Amino acid sequence: MSESLSTGSTYGGSSVGAGETHVAAGPDVDVDAASPLSRAENDALTVESTPDLSVFGPDIVARAEEQKARYPETRSALLPMLHLVQSVEGYVSQAGIEFCARRLNLANAEVAAVATFYTMYKRKPCGEHLVSVCTNTLCAVLGGDAIYKKLTEHLSQDGTPLKHEDTSGEPGTPGSITIEHAECLAACDLGPVLQVNYEFYDNQTVDSAVELVDALRRGEKPAPTRGAPLTDLRTVELELAGFYPEEEAEFRARIDGPSAAPETLRGAQLAADRGWTAPAMPEKAPALPEVEKK
Ligand code: FES
Repeated sequence: MSESLSTGSTYGGSSVGAGETHVAAGPDVDVDAASPLSRAENDALTVESTPDLSVFGPDIVARAEEQKARYPETRSALLPMLHLVQSVEGYVSQAGIEFCARRLNLANAEVAAVATFYTMYKRKPCGEHLVSVCTNTLCAVLGGDAIYKKLTEHLSQDGTPLKHEDTSGEPGTPGSITIEHAECLAACDLGPVLQVNYEFYDNQTVDSAVELVDALRRGEKPAPTRGAPLTDLRTVELELAGFYPEEEAEFRARIDGPSAAPETLRGAQLAADRGWTAPAMPEKAPALPEVEKK
């Protein structure tokens, strides 16, 4: 069964679809405080819209129900459900927000507040691949800033450097690439790093990063430095939603790449070689000094 809304949702009002109750944001929901968007932007997400939900067919509805059944509180399924809708459209559209709200009996504003808080949920259609360049402090000084600048120029189609979350090529088509700068990707020992669809490419240079995106544009899938083989963004989104395209055993074999690099373990190895150990925790921790009462 495909779905489409016949009743628009309202900001802080109510929305009732066929056979379903849509719990609205009441006066106790401070949308402005919950969302990084301005009220006007939030309005655009939540007011009087009638998105066509037919893109979310019976298979997606069944998967959403499966997600709900995994949690004692159904609203806990919101994060994986946003990944599910992103696996369908390559971003979280207005329809995606409405779909989640209806399946979970939430207000559009509540779903929008979550979708706009986390950077993994994209509000614009993405390319076949998402390239995330770490431009946090350590990677930046090791070359991450130069890599990001070069890729925004190299991927440009009209001579104007791409901006954060811009896409080179038609979003969703083969070889299209969305670029973003990312905060620390927790691989500082291997910087500068970048990710493609959240898979790591360590110790990058400007030249190796350009070679990588050129290969992606040609339809190739260069092997990540560690972790699972490269697929595409929508497949990864489906995996993040908790659904795997192959049998479980095949999936496990596919992710059986190295997950730790020698650099990551060097400190532990040095300590082991030299017999260093951390002091044992005392049986009884000394009492903390009294804090002066105010
Ligand atoms: S600063 Fe780039 S991974 Fe930490």
